[in-house]
Amino acid sequence: MTRDAIQLRKARFGDGRAIFQRIKAHPNELVPRPLSDIMLNIDRFLVAELDGEIVATASWSVLPELDPTKNPSIEIQSVSVRDDLQKHGLGRRMVEAAMERVAEFKPDQLIVLTFTPPFFAKLGFHPIPKEKILYKLYKGCMNCAKYDSPLTCPEVAMALTPAPREASL
Ligand SMILES: CC(C)(COP(=O)(O)OP(=O)(O)OC[C@H]1O[C@@H](n2cnc3c(N)ncnc32)[C@H](O)[C@@H]1OP(=O)(O)O)[C@@H](O)C(=O)NCCC(=O)NCCS
Repeated sequence: MTRDAIQLRKARFGDGRAIFQRIKAHPNELVPRPLSDIMLNIDRFLVAELDGEIVATASWSVLPELDPTKNPSIEIQSVSVRDDLQKHGLGRRMVEAAMERVAEFKPDQLIVLTFTPPFFAKLGFHPIPKEKILYKLYKGCMNCAKYDSPLTCPEVAMALTPAPREASL
């Protein structure tokens, strides 16, 4: 696999089913997303394509901020790299492309909830108390059927204050 053979691009409606399958391939690490959710948020997805196949995904959602003096946070979600292509820098490329894409919205911070904190630490994220992202816990985690409480779930909350820059994708 050469780096140049893999093309990163914005997702299209036609990618919906492939994105659905790619996320579903990591049931222990990623929250599965219904196809309808993927389609409604297709403009919040980036994909990587190799030989006509979607081999990696990354997406984001906006977390509103009650304090009117602050901008919303953006949560990076659904970061998936096909198993045989992992450990070659593609995950980093996907997250960095997503970070670049969302920078134009000027979020106050980027957050992730992840079972893979070392990967995001390499990208500059640092752990934060889950209590700092209560909106996310109420909106998403409260509906989780896997763990008793978002506060005891083993997913780690991490954040990064983005450097100002323009999007290129
Ligand atoms: C996590 C995931 C996206 C990483 O993708 P990847 O292409 O293997 O990552 P990269 O090769 O770009 O790694 C970037 C850096 O993170 C490190 N890293 C990647 N995965 C790691 C892991 N599981 N544990 C520790 N370090 C890890 C790499 O060693 C690399 O370090 P370096 O910059 O010093 O060389 C991929 O393993 C995956 O799809 N996992 C299943 C889904 C998932 O857990 N998604 C993340 C939660 S949203």
